[in-house]
Amino acid sequence: MKGIVLTAGGGTRLQPMTWATSKQLLPIYDKPMIYYPISVLFEAGIRDILMVTTEHDLPTYKELLGDGHQFGVNFSYVTQPTMDGVPQGIVLGKDFIGDDSVALVLGDNVFYGSGFKQNLAHALENASKGTATIFGCRVEDPTRFGVVDFDAKGTAISIEEKPVVPKSNYAVTGLYFFDNSVVEMACNLQPSAMGKYEITDICQQYLEQKRLKVEQLDLSFAWFDTGTVDSLFNAGEFIRVMQQSTGVKVAALEEIAYEAGWIKRAHLLKCADRLKKTDYGKYLENIALSTRH
Ligand code: G1P
Repeated sequence: MKGIVLTAGGGTRLQPMTWATSKQLLPIYDKPMIYYPISVLFEAGIRDILMVTTEHDLPTYKELLGDGHQFGVNFSYVTQPTMDGVPQGIVLGKDFIGDDSVALVLGDNVFYGSGFKQNLAHALENASKGTATIFGCRVEDPTRFGVVDFDAKGTAISIEEKPVVPKSNYAVTGLYFFDNSVVEMACNLQPSAMGKYEITDICQQYLEQKRLKVEQLDLSFAWFDTGTVDSLFNAGEFIRVMQQSTGVKVAALEEIAYEAGWIKRAHLLKCADRLKKTDYGKYLENIALSTRH
């Protein structure tokens, strides 16, 4: 399976912070925001990842992430000329996806919860059988999101993008697992009444074809779309508290790569050394010195 991370969103709700910096490079506590969605793909075992970014931000992303070898993965890049919506990431990634299935994650989404790795494994398996998977999370104000409604048995019955009158409190999170047929769907998609290409319209097609699984993230699960000042702050505060109380870092990409066997101990020590003035560096060093790989 291939992975695509979208970072081309304008970040208009975070101005003036985003006037000169890409939204997905802003910090969530101790790491750039983009580390968090990348970590989701890593946790799913995905190592071929396309970053969709703007022409303006491309050099910065390349400087931060490079070709991925420091994590034992492959990063490639494509630029999105116009902000026409999430499905454009699939259209731009057509050649990159090839005949494969694909996981798409939005660069401003942060996920934290137990059992998530298992959810990801199920999603990968569903995609290999032609079924797409999306994740629904209960939120206070669903009007900001794609909203999924369920029948009494918990089966998804409708998906709407930013409805004025939401049918449920379940937001569709920015993480999507698709089989290869998504490429054709994205290429043939028509713009919505809002003039954009909507990822929810693709999910709706999967739903109509009875090829959509909606996993409901339970109430103990934390999900943040960090597109507003408050949600950005809340996500940072949440990560700070969780990391300090558990002693485990969230989205430490080097750690995930090491645990997966993608990088060796000597390489992890080098990564730690580069960050030696930080807690992050000390954390990586401890991992390298305390486990056997
Ligand atoms: C996008 C999707 C929306 C989804 C949200 C999750 O909206 O269109 O369906 O609920 O991401 O982060 P955006 O944040 O681009 O407005």
